Amino acid sequence: GKTLIVTGAASGIGAATAALVQRQGANVISVDINPPRQVVGTFFQADLSDQASIDRLVAALPAGVHGLANIAGLPPTRPAEAVVAVNLVGLKYLTTQLVPKLADGASIVNLASLAGMGWADAKAQVDASANLDFGDVPAFCKAHGIEGPRSYFFSKEALIVWTMQNRWTWRARGIRMNSVSPGPVDTPILKDFLETLGARAEEDMKTMDRPGTPDDIAPVVAFLLSDGAAWIRGTNVPTDGGMFSNVMCQIN
Ligand code: NAI
Repeated sequence: GKTLIVTGAASGIGAATAALVQRQGANVISVDINPPRQVVGTFFQADLSDQASIDRLVAALPAGVHGLANIAGLPPTRPAEAVVAVNLVGLKYLTTQLVPKLADGASIVNLASLAGMGWADAKAQVDASANLDFGDVPAFCKAHGIEGPRSYFFSKEALIVWTMQNRWTWRARGIRMNSVSPGPVDTPILKDFLETLGARAEEDMKTMDRPGTPDDIAPVVAFLLSDGAAWIRGTNVPTDGGMFSNVMCQIN
């Protein structure tokens, strides 16, 4: 089987993805800041908001890995700098540092969000973050008014755009990258979303028959990691129980 790295594997969507791809025959490498209650495959502890910690992780990981699922993320209730560091800067850094160790033809999947799909309205802010380093995050957030829940939306907007921009970056080696954008999924993060977004989120939730579960998202990530998705490249796959069409496109 393939060797696949899953970050955020200690909880929620990451845990479900690690378990699913293992059942499908993959050799799983789980990464998280917290040790999982039930380890799937081999576990590496790392803080993906910290450059030195990512450097140690990349040095320790084996070469020839066939896929990377970037699922670790912080919710909008956490400090803005931490959200941008984990969800965007750390994710991009881990990915670019790891590419030389990936096998040719590898697939990278980034967990974005429905919260990032309004990226076109924030393109200038997103473009300004293109070369953002860990140390510059606090000043960047301050300069761009990225505070509170905006940090979460911004991190996911920039992630979707970065995924599209890099569709050909590793073309010579056949490495492709895509993102998945879930609507509200019932994980420990869900109550943070509802808390931060308040009444609007409650209303939006009513447009769906039910919230998602981690098992609604894991198969989509697993598919994008697989060879069956070889011609899906540099795009974003909404997986949201119909919420995008309703809430963001106003198609009733
Ligand atoms: P979760 O809280 O259950 O899992 C997130 C995992 O990321 C945790 O195990 C946590 O320890 C890990 N993590 C956080 N900071 C880290 C760091 N600095 N270094 C290493 N690991 C770290 O949340 P969930 O819902 O499974 O979220 C997974 C991804 O899906 C996130 O990127 C989230 O933004 C995204 N997402 C979640 C939605 C939801 O409604 N639950 C909706 C849309 C996107």
